[in-house]
Amino acid sequence: MQSLVVLGGRDASTYSVLKMIVAKTIPDLRQARSRFGPIAFVPTMGALHAGHLSLIQTARRYARDVVVSIFVNPTQFGPREDLTRYPRPLEEDLDLCRQAGVELVFVPDAGEIYRVGSPNVVVDLPELTQTLEGRHRPGHFQGVCQVVAKLFNIVQPQYACFGTKDFQQLRVIEAMTEALDFPIQIVPCPTVREPDGLAMSSRNRHLSDDERSRALNINRALFAADAEARAGAQVTSKLVATMQRMLLNVGRLGHVPMSIDYVACVDPKTLKLVDTLTAPVTCAIAARVGSTRLIDNLTITPGR
Ligand code: PAJ
Repeated sequence: MQSLVVLGGRDASTYSVLKMIVAKTIPDLRQARSRFGPIAFVPTMGALHAGHLSLIQTARRYARDVVVSIFVNPTQFGPREDLTRYPRPLEEDLDLCRQAGVELVFVPDAGEIYRVGSPNVVVDLPELTQTLEGRHRPGHFQGVCQVVAKLFNIVQPQYACFGTKDFQQLRVIEAMTEALDFPIQIVPCPTVREPDGLAMSSRNRHLSDDERSRALNINRALFAADAEARAGAQVTSKLVATMQRMLLNVGRLGHVPMSIDYVACVDPKTLKLVDTLTAPVTCAIAARVGSTRLIDNLTITPGR
């Protein structure tokens, strides 16, 4: 673990961190954390990209000290999902955190978070987790809630930043924080996109050039739905039809069509399906391009 440096001649409460601290164990993390005041926290699974870095920048606006966790949480992956294939470029990630001026990075291994013999705890918010991602990835949000609740207790942040790219996750975490009285303000952060509109994702590294071109149909479909709503569409069924048509339009780009898990327009708060466009709705898509599963969403304000 690297050391904290206290600048001479200044009050101990105004110390400055000259080196980023990397903690691998909970006791090390707690010891390092105890030297900081209010903290803004950015939980991640690593393979950091500009989306994660924007969360770190936002975190900095909320607190002087920023803590990032990098942990590929096994409990949120289903048995047939991509846990073993998930990219883990740890040294690159630590460099990016260092360049972003992060004070403290928590990089536990699975045995540190899920200790042998410690009881399994299930945190669930069934009203929000039986739809969309939760329906297609049974147990996923229980795993997310389990690890985020543990990380909140370990890191004890005052603020925690989550991306709207995973808008159901953000909503579930907001609700869990409220329901379990965590004294933490959840800070939503906008989706960062590639110049051509593809939402940044750690999983994009798995896409071949051809798959990447086809993946663009996901964001194009969302923006087409947005345009239709602005042009005065009244019902979400029209937007869903447009999105489905665009997703399946692979043109001359490839032979394997995209397979759609869901295309839905939901209330951004309750996540219930919405029929008419009288208030903002979140359009959400999950689709497989080759063997890579991608998600994206856009909140649409009607008649804007
Ligand atoms: P991960 O997929 O690494 O994402 C970490 C955070 O970065 C999440 O809040 C996610 O919404 C945000 N993020 C990802 N892509 C983004 C983009 N293009 N623009 C803006 N924000 C983006 O989400 C997880 O990890 C895990 O489920 C976790 C919360 C860490 C629990 O294990």
